[in-house]
Amino acid sequence: MRTRFTEMFGIRYPIVQGGMQWVGRAELAAAVSNAGALGIITALTQPTPEDLLREIARCRDMTDQPFAVNLTILPTLRAVSHAHYAQAIIDSGVKIVETAGRNPEPYMASFKAAGVKIIHKCTSVRHSLKAQAIGCDAVSVDGFECAGHPGEDDIPGLVLLPRAAEQLKIPIIASGGFGDGRGLVAALALGADGINMGTRFMATVEAPIHQNIKDSIVAASERDTALLMRRLRNTARFFRNRVAQEAEAVERMKGADLTIQDLAPFVSGQRGRLVYEQGDVDAGVWSAGMVVGLIHDVPTCAELVSRIVREAREIISERLMKTMA
Ligand SMILES: Cc1cc2nc3c(=O)[nH]c(=O)nc-3n(C[C@H](O)[C@H](O)[C@H](O)COP(=O)(O)O)c2cc1C
Repeated sequence: MRTRFTEMFGIRYPIVQGGMQWVGRAELAAAVSNAGALGIITALTQPTPEDLLREIARCRDMTDQPFAVNLTILPTLRAVSHAHYAQAIIDSGVKIVETAGRNPEPYMASFKAAGVKIIHKCTSVRHSLKAQAIGCDAVSVDGFECAGHPGEDDIPGLVLLPRAAEQLKIPIIASGGFGDGRGLVAALALGADGINMGTRFMATVEAPIHQNIKDSIVAASERDTALLMRRLRNTARFFRNRVAQEAEAVERMKGADLTIQDLAPFVSGQRGRLVYEQGDVDAGVWSAGMVVGLIHDVPTCAELVSRIVREAREIISERLMKTMA
């Protein structure tokens, strides 16, 4: 498959594994890249920039294919120097970065000088245009369906992606709600150059998380996610487990008086980490997208990527061609 994205980034298939806190480690990124898609290591999962350098080296031991590093620029409960992580990415020699959260402008000049291509992930047309204006090479556009932070506009991919395609010149990766070949064909039809998947890659053999979490994703329906922190204008989509429901109750009770301190005990990243390590689905909140409803198995990354490509080819060459005949 060839799109502007595969050409620009030198990968076989227009499929990206989005950055995932606690999940985006070397074994997953390497498996995705070995499957012909673009694997991404999540920088802030590593406690220090030095650990990130070691994680990147570990990934290189497992793949000779291109992979990227995600740098999420958002306020965190622990103090984080994003600049030091950005420098570690540059020092590592990795040539693709996925930025997300705040505007990556402070790091653009040093990434560019080091020949690092930047995919900025955002949730609106206006932020995509800004990313293009400051020199990002591509954007990943996250619709309302997505896991993690969907922004505050609540525009689903079906409208957001063609709107972005109308406005942007740089390649667009469609993100949020993608999990199979039908999604890939739809994304291409809407004007995107590829798809980004988070939740779908959690339910793979190589995802370094407890089997219980993968099984919960397979068992879940599209109604099993919850949006939290809307009143703080920091909306995030999580798996609707017991903790997420408790947090929802606190949000209802506090109403307009809600502060981050009220929610901190529920949304702490460290509690989320226990979920993945110990397999206790209710140990904390954990990100998941509506696409859980479309996930019915736990394949290897190679099986998943080749299945998506095969399905997409069949849909285009059989179902769609027959429709036109
Ligand atoms: C467990 C998990 C953790 C995530 N952590 C991050 C993160 O740290 N930084 C980031 O930019 N996006 C993060 N995301 C969002 C994904 O990169 C991606 O944009 C999103 O999952 C796309 O929606 P989908 O899950 O429907 O595929 C996370 C997603 C999941 C499922």
